Parts: sequence; structure tokens; C-alpha cells
Amino acid sequence: MEYDVIFIGAGPGGYTGAIRAAQLGLKTAIIEKYPTLGGTCLNVGCIPSKALLDSSEHFYNAAHTFAEHGIRLDSLQVDLPQMIKRKQDVVDQTTKGIAFLMKKNKIDTYYGLGSFVDAHTVKIAKNDGGEETIKGKNIVIATGSKPMSFPSMPIDKKRVITSTEALKLEQVPKHLIIIGAGVIGAELGSVYARLGANVSFVEFADSMIPTMDKTMGKELQKAIKKLGADFYFNHKVTKVENKGEEVEVSIDTPDNKQITLTGDYCLVSVGRRPYTDGLNLEAAGLKADARGKVEVDSYLRTSVPHIYALGDVIRGAMLAHKAEEEGTFIAETIVGQKPHIHYRLIPNVVYTWPEVAAVGYTEEELKQEGIPYKTGSFPFKALGRARASMDIDGLAKVLAHKDSDEILGVHIIGPRAADIIAEAVVAMEFRASAEDITRMSHAHPTYTEAFKEACLAATGNRAINM
Ligand code: FAD
Ligand code: NAI
Repeated sequence: MEYDVIFIGAGPGGYTGAIRAAQLGLKTAIIEKYPTLGGTCLNVGCIPSKALLDSSEHFYNAAHTFAEHGIRLDSLQVDLPQMIKRKQDVVDQTTKGIAFLMKKNKIDTYYGLGSFVDAHTVKIAKNDGGEETIKGKNIVIATGSKPMSFPSMPIDKKRVITSTEALKLEQVPKHLIIIGAGVIGAELGSVYARLGANVSFVEFADSMIPTMDKTMGKELQKAIKKLGADFYFNHKVTKVENKGEEVEVSIDTPDNKQITLTGDYCLVSVGRRPYTDGLNLEAAGLKADARGKVEVDSYLRTSVPHIYALGDVIRGAMLAHKAEEEGTFIAETIVGQKPHIHYRLIPNVVYTWPEVAAVGYTEEELKQEGIPYKTGSFPFKALGRARASMDIDGLAKVLAHKDSDEILGVHIIGPRAADIIAEAVVAMEFRASAEDITRMSHAHPTYTEAFKEACLAATGNRAINM
């Protein structure tokens, strides 16, 4: 078989790109080594983690805030197997939806491991046995990423686990030790802390989510601390050992002492690595860089111009919506269109409660780059809508250019921050000033008023409700 374009990997990047390619009239194939489509995001990432975040939040609210709302419940219990089953039902429905979309768009779907034979030929070692070889005028590497680990913390998938196992535990841990207080640590740590686990974060850096604006990490730590979690910042893990029913984590403290934490599970969430294992890149004349990434130019072309790459396997943020934009970009580039991705304006969200959402420059980046800026913040506790729902933790922070007033960064920790950030993305795509936002009517009472109030604060300190 010969195709206009073959996508290797059916994650958000691969399947979105394949659909766009088919819409544009390209004869399209997609290869996926797992039995279901959707990649990390749909199977063991975005979707299942959000399903468990929602379930655990319901439980936490029922246990801790319902009484204040005037709702009484007796003998509340966690049924973890049911919670995990519901999560899996959501995943199954969603991945089946992608299989339907492939059929609807007449995309040939191959289930098996794809590997290069040469720069135009891909061999598929099929999951149901046998081999097939297909050819592509264009080929897209969309093979994603896998959890990273270090030799001192060997993953055994029983006691020392990654996010994949943490999404299907059979019991709520008594003590969950999490190495890495980044996005996965914050989200899955929240899930199990809400369900009653003691959670300890051991983090190399000096705060949670250290790559985001520092204010966000500080505020998020306060919120997660309320769930009863412990934090070991600036600590270095030296050894993780499975002791049967327990796991022992040896740690160097900042003042060079050694301590040991004992728990029943240790979640290693220290980042993810680009994944090209088994792809036989060399046969296509390609090789991954020292960090395992496939190098691409600004058109997402590798050094072999008809072979493209996208998503987690290339540079940039490891986010589903970034991979999706790149899939669309590649399909449109192949047919000669001139698409565009504004990487600085790809939003970043942490689905804890309160949620954290950001777009654009952090304050630290502005300082580092010497860009003159002003800032305005507004706390959710001053917002009627937040008081009505008892979601008063957090704030919205706006960074605008000191002279032009153009919005350069928006950082929100608070209720529905994940949805509010969309307004900031639109504003920044159109290069709005903070003043522009202050002149636009925001429905009252809504959480979005926090963004407007932060813009008022950034332009002459004129927030109304503070
Ligand atoms: P992937 O989704 O990793 O897909 C790659 C696919 O390629 C896989 O299905 C793999 O099996 C297949 N493959 C690999 N090699 C081959 C081969 N040789 N032949 C055939 N198939 C192959 N991002 C967000 O934006 N929002 C979130 O809320 C979010 N939550 C997350 C939660 C967790 C726990 C994790 C782990 C990740 C989360 N992410 C989230 C990140 C997101 O999942 C990834 O950024 C996204 O899936 C990357 O998409 P991709 O298409 O590049 O690769
Ligand atoms: P991460 O990069 O977000 O966090 C890793 C953390 O581990 C960092 O804080 C880092 O300082 C720390 N760390 C690294 N080595 C360490 C060590 N030896 N000891 C202690 N701490 C150490 O990576 P994470 O959480 O594993 O997630 C991987 C990727 O998945 C993220 O980069 C993100 O792109 C994606 N993701 C996105 C989500 C979302 O969009 N909501 C949710 C979950 C994952």
C-alpha cells in the first residue's frame, strides 16, 4: 500500500494530524502499537487522571465541605475499585471514539509496532501476528514519551510505580511517597491525599511545579498542605528499595543529613523521556539527540525533509494540545498551506483544586530577559462567586509590559482556572493590553471576574473589589 502520509503513533498528535490530513484529501494511514488509539493522553494520561481527580474531589467535598453547605451524609466510604472502573469506562468510551473517527475519515489503521525499513517504507509487526510493509510519500513520527526514571529509583510497577500504575491502584495507599512535585506529582498526589493517604513529596527543586511562575508553586503548596501532605524540598533521593510490603526511600537533606521515608508505594514522577524505541530511526537516515528527542526545524521536518515529527518526541512542552496543534500544522504544511503555531501562547494547566493555569511569560522569565513589566493580582477570596462556592483559595496574576501595557503573562490559581485561561490566550493572541480587558464586560458573578480585576490592578491599581 502507498499513502500520501503515514502517522506512526496514535496519540493526540498522531490522530489529530491524521484526521486533518484526511480532511485535506490525503490518503492517510496511522500505526499504533497498543490495542487502543489515543496514546498516553487518552489511555494513561490526561483523561484517566482527570476522571480520578473528579471522583476524588467529589469524595473530598462530601467529607469536608458538604456539612457546611447544609448537606449531611452518614457513613461515607471510598469504593476504589468502582472509582477505577468508572475511570476505565471513560477511557474506553474515549478511545473507541477515536477508532470511530478513523473510520469516519477513511484513515487506514494498523495495530502493531511500526519501524522504518528505509526513508519511505515502514514495516508493521502486527499485534495479531504477521508483518506488513507500507510506503509513504510523507511520514510523521508521533511516538510520544514514556516515564523517566533514574538508576537509584528502579521502577518495579508494584511498590515503585509510575503514573500508569498509580491510575489503577487496588487500595488507597497508607503512605504514598512521591518523588518529583511537578505536574504528575501534584495531580496524582491530590487524588490519593483526598482519598485519605498520607502523601510525602520529595522534590529536588525549592518548590512545587518549579518551572511555572513562582507564585503558583507557593500557592499550590498551601492548598495541597491543607490535604495533609508533607514536603521535602531541596532534598535528593539516593536510593529507593522495594522491601516487600513496604518501600524505603533514602534521602539526602539540604544540610547533608540522611533520612529514610517508609511508605507502601513510591510514585516516581520526575519527568518523561521522548520515546523512539524499536522505531529503527537509522534505517531512515535519522537519529535521536542525546536526550532522545527527534530534531526538527520550524516546519517540524526532520533532517529527512519528507519525515516530520511532533508532540512529546520533539522539543517543547509535553502537552496534548501542543501535540494536536503540531499534527494539524504538519498536515496543512504537506498540502502547501502556511499554518502557524504560537508556542509562547500554549497554555499550561495543572488540574489540582484549586486549578493552576498559565500562559505567556512567568515573572522570573521577564526578569531574566530584562523586559520591563508591571503586575496586578487579585485574590479569589474577594470574589462573590468564589465565596458562594467556598472556593476562596488562590489568585489571578497579570503581567503586562510596563510601557505598552500589552499582556505578557497570566498566571491563575483558583476555581476553574483551566477554563478562565482560555480568555487570556485569546486576549494575548490578539495582543490585547491589560486596559483592553478592563473595558470588557465580564458576567457577574463569575470566576472570570478575577482576571478582569487583576488587569484593573495592573493598570493603576484600580481593582474594584479589593
Ligand atoms: P503519545 O500520546 O505518547 O502517543 C504516542 C503513541 O505512539 C502511543 O500510543 C504509543 O503506543 C505509540 N507508539 C510509540 N512507538 C510506536 C511505534 N514504533 N509503532 C507504533 N506505535 C507507536 N497533557 C495535557 O495537555 N493535559 C493533561 O491533562 C495531561 N495529563 C497527563 C497526565 C498523565 C498522567 C500523563 C502521563 C501525561 C499527561 N499529559 C497531559 C501529557 C500528554 O499525555 C502528552 O503530552 C500527549 O499524550 C503527547 O501526545 P503525543 O501524540 O506526542 O504522544
Ligand atoms: P515534571 O517535569 O512536571 O516534574 C518533574 C519534577 O521532578 C520536577 O519538579 C523536578 O524538579 C523533579 N525532579 C526531577 N528529578 C528529581 C529527583 N531526582 N529527585 C526529586 N525530584 C526530581 O514531570 P512529571 O510530573 O513527571 O510529568 C511529565 C510531563 O507530563 C510533564 O512535563 C507534563 O508536560 C506532562 N503532564 C501534563 C499534565 C497536564 O497538562 N495537566 C499532567 C501530567 C503530566
